[in-house]
Amino acid sequence: MIIAIDGPAAAGKGTLARRIAGALGLPYLDTGLLYRATGRLVLDAGGDPAKVEDAARAANALRETDLGRGDLRGAEADRAASQVASIPAVRAALLDYQRDYGRKNGAVLDGRDIGTIVFPNADIKLFVTASLEARAARRHRELVLRGEAMALEEVRADLAARDEADRNRKAAPLKPAEDATVFDTTDMDADAAFARALALIKAAKGFPDKN
Ligand code: CDP
Repeated sequence: MIIAIDGPAAAGKGTLARRIAGALGLPYLDTGLLYRATGRLVLDAGGDPAKVEDAARAANALRETDLGRGDLRGAEADRAASQVASIPAVRAALLDYQRDYGRKNGAVLDGRDIGTIVFPNADIKLFVTASLEARAARRHRELVLRGEAMALEEVRADLAARDEADRNRKAAPLKPAEDATVFDTTDMDADAAFARALALIKAAKGFPDKN
């Protein structure tokens, strides 16, 4: 079974996807890590994440161990990821890995284009959103917990800029698949979002709901 979870930055896709995967016994792939690690490799090499040759070279050199790096979160990694992600050659280089991952044993994958491009025939497609205010507050809290001081206002501006770039790029723009269920978590905490999403998936797939 393939479950595609897409949506804008800091909407809570990762937490939701990981928990759904755990509940259903499926592997989980955070596809944002592929773009984040590609961006990091470009920066390591002293390149420019917005330059096609630099970004494509890094995407083709990416190894699975790069996904476990400890420096893939934070403002610099966010920006580099978004820049390399707009380059078609980068997206093409990362496509097979994502498809192979899902085809092996089924999977929950979260990203921007899972339901539209990577797995257009996914069994379940959720498009997870929340207001910019709610998303900025969540990301700000994450950063504070990690000890990275950044003003809420700056976090909000970064998210808005990244969403704008992700929505308006030509290659795999961020948008709900036509058959996706839009899932707004503005007024839900992580537990409520998980319970609702799981109920939705079980209803769609005819699982008996034991809760
Ligand atoms: O955690 P957050 O929502 O902030 O970001 P992420 O899911 O780790 O994605 C980081 C960046 O990678 C996004 O801003 C996108 O530009 C890009 N991305 C993408 O283009 N396609 C995906 N399937 C996943 C991420």
